[in-house]
Amino acid sequence: MLRTINLGRDYYVKDKNGSKTKVEAVKNVCLTLNENNSYSLVGESGSGKSTLAKLIMSLEKPTTGEIYLDNKNIALMRKKQLRILRSDFQMVLQDSYSALNPKMKIYDSIAEPIRNFEKLTLIQEKETIESLITKVELPVSSLKKYPYQLSGGQQKRVCIARAIATNPKFIVFDEAVSGLDVTVRKKILDLLLKLRSDIKSTYLFITHDIDVAFYMADNIAVMKDGEIVEYIKNIKSLNGFKHEYSRMLIDSLPPLYPKQRDYQEAI
Ligand SMILES: Nc1ncnc2c1ncn2[C@@H]1O[C@H](COP(=O)(O)OP(=O)(O)O)[C@@H](O)[C@H]1O
Ligand SMILES: [Mg+2]
Repeated sequence: MLRTINLGRDYYVKDKNGSKTKVEAVKNVCLTLNENNSYSLVGESGSGKSTLAKLIMSLEKPTTGEIYLDNKNIALMRKKQLRILRSDFQMVLQDSYSALNPKMKIYDSIAEPIRNFEKLTLIQEKETIESLITKVELPVSSLKKYPYQLSGGQQKRVCIARAIATNPKFIVFDEAVSGLDVTVRKKILDLLLKLRSDIKSTYLFITHDIDVAFYMADNIAVMKDGEIVEYIKNIKSLNGFKHEYSRMLIDSLPPLYPKQRDYQEAI
């Protein structure tokens, strides 16, 4: 279980006159992510979602607050201690192409995280990698290719294979499907739902799309100006949302979106 208490992160940015202004990217976030559950974090661009993800993954140090992983305060841990935890946390980002080394064959891109954390024989490694590429529904022959030879959707699948390669406890998808064609996007989301039922982990789906947030998880946190303004557990209908901002997000769904129709009937 991962729990944050009053987590905050400030940045100082220089304005036009050269003076520093404080940006409170994340403010007072208290969030609990239970084992083997799925969560969506939704909010507009600049609301602090990626900063919160980086804090949770210990890629950034918090300005205030605590992060407990099974009762250990990881916010206080030093780099060396954190390195041991690294394999427990994986992240899939929006831009797959820059996440992959252009000079590395797909086989080696997937092997990289495994080699960092486990000692496998070459045969075991090959078996593991072939099983991973099959799990993300790509042909084994794609392992011989370079990233530029794959489509955006295929590159995304490779990034997902890399993320699940070390059997992490937490996988964060930060705008992982943003920028993909609608049909490809749906296929990737469905692949993630399928993997979720196979691979036990805690999934955090970060998105600015309320429809993606609904599709991917029952637990939804709504973020605005660095704060979690609403947190809904096991959502059954849109009625559950009370905050004015969450209602605005829901109202912004296209009228013909099927999920919204269902929810409207539920209301
Ligand atoms: N490294 C940084 N330096 C300065 N400001 C930053 C940095 N990272 C994020 N911010 C600022 O923090 C706020 C939240 O950003 P971010 O977490 O990226 O939001 P989101 O992922 O929801 O779009 C924004 O105002 C952004 O400009
Ligand atoms: Mg972001």
